[in-house]
Amino acid sequence: MILLTGGLGYIGSHTAVELIEAGYDVIILDNLSNSKIEVLDSLKQITGKKIPFVKGDCQNEALVEEIFTNNKIDAVVHFAGFKAVGESVKKPIEYYDNNINSTLALLRVMKKFGCKNFVFSSSATVYGRAETMPIYEDFPTSATNPYGRTKLFIEEILKDLYVADNTLNIAILRYFNPIGAHKSGLIGEDPNGIPNNLMPYITKVATGKLEKLSVYGNDYPTRDGTGIRDYIHVCDLAKGHVLALKKLESNSGLVTYNLGTGTGYSVLEIVNAFNQVCGNKVKYEFAPRRPGDIDVCYASPEKAQKELGFKATHSLRDMCETSFNFEQKHTKN
Ligand code: NAD
Ligand code: UFG
Repeated sequence: MILLTGGLGYIGSHTAVELIEAGYDVIILDNLSNSKIEVLDSLKQITGKKIPFVKGDCQNEALVEEIFTNNKIDAVVHFAGFKAVGESVKKPIEYYDNNINSTLALLRVMKKFGCKNFVFSSSATVYGRAETMPIYEDFPTSATNPYGRTKLFIEEILKDLYVADNTLNIAILRYFNPIGAHKSGLIGEDPNGIPNNLMPYITKVATGKLEKLSVYGNDYPTRDGTGIRDYIHVCDLAKGHVLALKKLESNSGLVTYNLGTGTGYSVLEIVNAFNQVCGNKVKYEFAPRRPGDIDVCYASPEKAQKELGFKATHSLRDMCETSFNFEQKHTKN
């Protein structure tokens, strides 16, 4: 049985589907701080299985122990955490508390129960401003905001833990920019309030819930002046977790992988691709650069491809279509 913390969230819910389709049993722990209980019904519709769910906080060690007592947990995939960069600058204590203490609590319980396999949701943000592209896993790491620092600190904690106990198997997965949704349109990215990220903002403009997109900066040293990122379909990203778990089953020790496609698209390229799918509904205007943004960021996916057999297969069009489909079918606000 695989414990998914934060398994009702955007990436966790898609990973639950992929794990079940790959034959794994999963149990979800989520405190619903950034997700809705309805996702559980959607997961049942998609997979045909009723996934065991515990509503609660990872920091509640007694509760996590209860999960380990009642189930044979072979591995933990740890998605739970806060993830908004801007909010983390305003609420550093909440971010350090939730992200770091949740991880420590889980690791303590895993140790107590002899559970050896841990997959951690890290981020491309740990590369800071990389000097060259594509980004390889051995590039230097740094952080420019509290959210990024929580990811960096947790990575360091995991490395220290592995030094102390090299019988552990730990996969640090550095995600690039997940977008898209499950093809059913039943699960997808559904942020509270006005979205910070590009794709959820675009889908709300395309469905008339927001007026126009601000493109942050058209004077970057890129092919059209707008920022370039490595957008990866969330279902491809989810499959990466299945492969990472299989890697841990082979007693891998501590491993670190980029999960990206290796291809960068600019903001305008994303807008144009989306406009082809939705019929030119995305109005935009250029706005000043967003503080803290970098010009270009894309992965080398080589290591994950070679060692995990990971390869992203969904096209940009598919990413746009499924994002639009989810927004149209699912969200009301
Ligand atoms: P999400 O907010 O949709 O999912 C996180 C889930 O964790 C939510 O359902 C939330 O309710 C839950 N949660 C938060 N704190 C909890 C706690 N203490 N106990 C129990 N549940 C808790 O976010 P996501 O986009 O699915 O991201 C998942 C993970 O991937 C996060 O750790 C995030 O930092 C990381 N990540 C995300 C991105 C991205 O662009 N989405 C990029 C890189 C890394
Ligand atoms: N952008 C706009 N307008 C918007 C939103 C974004 O032009 O309204 C631009 C940004 O300037 C950037 C690109 O679209 O060039 C992507 O921005 P996102 O906010 O969607 O994503 P980021 O690359 O800034 O960051 C995301 C997550 C981070 C994570 C990082 C790498 O928010 O937490 O991907 O995984 F660390």
